[in-house]
Amino acid sequence: MHVFDGSNCFAAPLPPHRGGLAGWGNAVDDICMTLSFHLNGDRVDLRDVPPTTTLLDWLRIDRGLTGTKEGCNEGDCGACTVMVTGEDGPKALNACILFLPQLQGKSVTTVEGLTPAEGGLHPVQQAMVDEHGSQCGFCTPGFVMSMATAQITGEADHDLTLAGNLCRCTGYAPIIRAADKAVTAPVPAHLPATFRMPVEPEGTAFQPETADDLAAWYAMHPQATLVAGATDLGLHVTKAMRDLGEVAFLNRCADLKGIEVTETEIRIGAMVTFSELLPVITPIHPGFATMLKRFASVQVRNAATVGGNIANGSPIGDSPPAFIALGAQVHLRKGEERRSLLVEEFFLEYGKQDRAPGEFVEAISIPRQPDRLACYKLSKRADQDISAVCGCFNITVEDGVVTDAKIAFGGMAGVPKRATAVEAAITGQLWNETILATAAPAWAQDFQPLSDMRASADYRLTSAANMLERYLLTDMGQMTTLAEVSA
Ligand SMILES: Cc1cc2nc3c(=O)[nH]c(=O)nc-3n(C[C@H](O)[C@H](O)[C@H](O)COP(=O)(O)OP(=O)(O)OC[C@H]3O[C@@H](n4cnc5c(N)ncnc54)[C@H](O)[C@@H]3O)c2cc1C
Ligand code: FES
Ligand code: FES
Repeated sequence: MHVFDGSNCFAAPLPPHRGGLAGWGNAVDDICMTLSFHLNGDRVDLRDVPPTTTLLDWLRIDRGLTGTKEGCNEGDCGACTVMVTGEDGPKALNACILFLPQLQGKSVTTVEGLTPAEGGLHPVQQAMVDEHGSQCGFCTPGFVMSMATAQITGEADHDLTLAGNLCRCTGYAPIIRAADKAVTAPVPAHLPATFRMPVEPEGTAFQPETADDLAAWYAMHPQATLVAGATDLGLHVTKAMRDLGEVAFLNRCADLKGIEVTETEIRIGAMVTFSELLPVITPIHPGFATMLKRFASVQVRNAATVGGNIANGSPIGDSPPAFIALGAQVHLRKGEERRSLLVEEFFLEYGKQDRAPGEFVEAISIPRQPDRLACYKLSKRADQDISAVCGCFNITVEDGVVTDAKIAFGGMAGVPKRATAVEAAITGQLWNETILATAAPAWAQDFQPLSDMRASADYRLTSAANMLERYLLTDMGQMTTLAEVSA
C-alpha cells in the first residue's frame, strides 16, 4: 500500500537555473514528487509522491474509487481504462501502467465521474443497459470509459476503439451495438466542465520541460531511468516488482513531442505517441499505418512513444523493422553532444544498444521517398498482441527489375534485423514469381530464429519467405488480405 506521508521521500530539487541548489547534480536515493491534476473535476495536489505509484493503485487504495477495476495489471485487458484530458483533448489510458507524475497538469475522469452529480446514466451506460452489454460487469467500467472517450472524440470505428478492452462473458456484439448507438447521443454537459487544467505545475529536475534541461540532468544522472509512456516500464513495476531507482519523466518535454514533415524528411520527436504518429504517417506510408493500428490497443498507443519503442531494444518491437526498411535514423543526445545513426545500427545485440550512459533518444527521422512500404505483423490474435514475426518490405522496381531492396524483421533474431542476403539475392533480378526461388536459400543465411511460445523457428522462417511472396503478389494486383479474399 502506498502511503503519501513523505516519510520515504526526499524533496525533488529544482535545477540551478530555476533557483535550485548548485548540488542539483547530486544523486538522491529515493525521490518523491509534488504534482497537481484534476480528478473528476476536483483539483488534487499531492506532495512527496513516490514517483512510480500507479494511478490505479492510488484511485482504488488511496481514494477508494473502486469503479476502476484491476484485471491484468499489465495493460492488456482495459478493465482499468480512464479518460485523461490534456491540451490535446481526452484520451483513453490504462490506469494500471500510468504513473501519477504522468498526470501532471491533466484532468482525469473515472467511471465515477461519468455520471452527473444529480444522478442518471451517461448515454454509453444507458446504451449498454439497452443492448444487454454487461453480464458479470467486471469489464464494464473499462468499456464505458473507452466508449465515452470515443463518443467525445467522434471516433466511430469501435473494432478499433474497443480492441484494448477484454470481455470474457457477454460477447462483443451487444457491446459494439451499444457503442454504435451511443455515438450520436449528445455528450453530457457536465463532462467537459470537469476537464479543467490545474494551475501551472511546478517544474522539477525529474520532470524537465525541455530537452536541454533533460540533457543537462541526465548527463549528471546517467544511472537514472527515463520514463516515457511507461507501457514497458509500468510492467517492470507491477509485474517484475522492480524498483526503478532514480527516475526522470519526459512527458513534459514539449520539444520532444513534435512531428515535422518537410520535403526531405519526417522528423518524429522521441515523445511522440503512436496515436499521434498514426494520422501523420497514414497518407505518407499507409502500410506503416495499417501495422500501427494493430500495435497494442488504443489505450497503449495513447501512451507508448516512438522513442521508447526504439530505446527499449526489444527484438519484437513493431516500429523498428518499419523504420529500418525506410532507412530511418535515430538521433541521440548526451549533454550538448548529438549524433545520428541508422536505426539498424542502434541495435548491437540482444539487450545491447549503441547508447552511452546519460545519452537519450531525441528523435527519429525518415527520409522522404516514394512509398513502397508494406508491413506484415504476424501474431496469434489480430488485436492487442505482440508479433511473432513482423516483416517490413521496401522494394524499388524499375522497368520490371529490382533496383533497391530494404527488408527488415522483428522476431527473427536477437535484434530487429535487415535481411541483407535476401536483399542482395533479389537486387538486379526480374520482379516476378521466379524471384521467390532466387531468394529462397538466402533466408537461412540471414536468420536462424528461435523457437518460443509465439512460434517455432521453422514457422518463422517459412512465414518470412511467405511475406515476400505476399508483397510481390500484392504489388502485382492480386488480393492477399485474408479479410478481402473470397472463394
Ligand atoms: C498491453 C501491451 C501491448 C503492447 N503491444 C505492443 C505491440 O503490439 N508492439 C510493440 O512494439 N510494443 C508493444 N508493447 C510494448 C510497448 O508499448 C512499446 O515498446 C512502447 O513503444 C514503449 O514506449 P514507452 O513510451 O511506453 O516506453 P517506456 O516504458 O517509458 O520506456 C521503455 C524503455 O525505453 C527507455 N526510454 C524511453 N524513452 C527514451 C528516450 N527518449 N531516450 C532513451 N531511453 C528512453 C526507458 O528508460 C525504458 O528503458 C505493448 C505493451 C503493452 C503493455
Ligand atoms: S488492469 Fe488490465 S489493462 Fe489495466
Ligand atoms: S461482462 Fe463479464 S467480463 Fe465482460
